[in-house]
Amino acid sequence: MKAILIKSPGAADQLYLGEYEIPKPASDEVLVKVHATALNRADILQREGKYPPPDGASPILGLEMSGEIVEVGEEVKKWKIGDKVFGLLPGGGYAEYAVIHQDMAMAIPENLSFEEATAIPEVFMTAFQAVHWLGKLQPNERILIHAGASGVGTAAIQLAKEMQAEDIIVTASQAKHATCRELGAHYTIDYKSQDFRDEIKKITDGEGVDVIVDFIAAPYFERNISVLRTDGRLIMLALLGGTHLEQFNLGNLLRKRIQILASTLRSRSREYQIRLTEAFAEFAISRFETEKLRPVIDQVIDWQEVKAAHQRMESNQNIGKIVLKISES
Ligand SMILES: NC(=O)c1ccc[n+]([C@@H]2O[C@H](COP(=O)([O-])OP(=O)(O)OC[C@H]3O[C@@H](n4cnc5c(N)ncnc54)[C@H](OP(=O)(O)O)[C@@H]3O)[C@@H](O)[C@H]2O)c1
Repeated sequence: MKAILIKSPGAADQLYLGEYEIPKPASDEVLVKVHATALNRADILQREGKYPPPDGASPILGLEMSGEIVEVGEEVKKWKIGDKVFGLLPGGGYAEYAVIHQDMAMAIPENLSFEEATAIPEVFMTAFQAVHWLGKLQPNERILIHAGASGVGTAAIQLAKEMQAEDIIVTASQAKHATCRELGAHYTIDYKSQDFRDEIKKITDGEGVDVIVDFIAAPYFERNISVLRTDGRLIMLALLGGTHLEQFNLGNLLRKRIQILASTLRSRSREYQIRLTEAFAEFAISRFETEKLRPVIDQVIDWQEVKAAHQRMESNQNIGKIVLKISES
């Protein structure tokens, strides 16, 4: 089969369309002819050699896919050849064929194309886990979502709206604010020209927020803690701004009984990912069908243009997902 491979760890120009063996489905897996996959920041790190795939995962990039089942393992009961599915992968999405565990695959809602379906799993399931499972966002609570126009951010805004958050506040570059508002954000903060701590104090009358979804880490840590209310939850998903704190007064954590939860989805066990897939599907599939939730697609790019796609994400130009269409060659 054709697959996007890496010549040697490095920049986007190391990616090329090469030949790779078609994976064989295990007894509880299905083989999917992939129609579309999508980019994630983890792909960039893996391409650079900084994020090796978990044990047993395909070394090919790609954490999600949509396509059609072409083969089923002997124990597979719930799927048949021809079914259209999408789902999260531990790797292997940038290829003409990929295997997925039967319980990690979800049926594509009829109103969604392959390109739309593949834009869902990684960012929506990450956001669902962050906002619902970890953040335990309650109706009438306030949430702050950093990088609101990112793939995960755009999903988190929509999920918070469906969970009836009182105020959804996001930080993002100015040019991305309109999209965040369309999706359901009530307040947008341009973190480049405004201090989000001052803005949140103004927006909430000094009360603060209950849940924060953060990707920036060190440069935001102290301010995140200062804008959390008592019993607030800080969910840390990435380290885009840096890893080390110079100093921090731990007293604020105790005084406000703050919970800090960090998570990476890819490192979770298959059992955890299956439970998450099932809980997410139950919550979200009908909402995609009725368009209460929608995948946010920045661009659909032919996979032969994968270098340009990676460069677009690396330069922070995207709003939502960059999708790769797997064209016949
Ligand atoms: N822990 C997990 O399980 C998990 C799962 C999926 C993704 N992630 C991580 O979550 C992050 C977002 O992923 P994604 O796919 O949604 O990314 P994305 O769509 O590429 O968006 C990232 C956005 O973050 C903003 N940004 C980048 N660097 C920043 C910085 N230093 N300070 C403030 N904002 C910055 C930029 O938007 P602006 O133009 O608005 O600044 C950028 O477009 C990535 O780091 C990814 O690795 C974690």
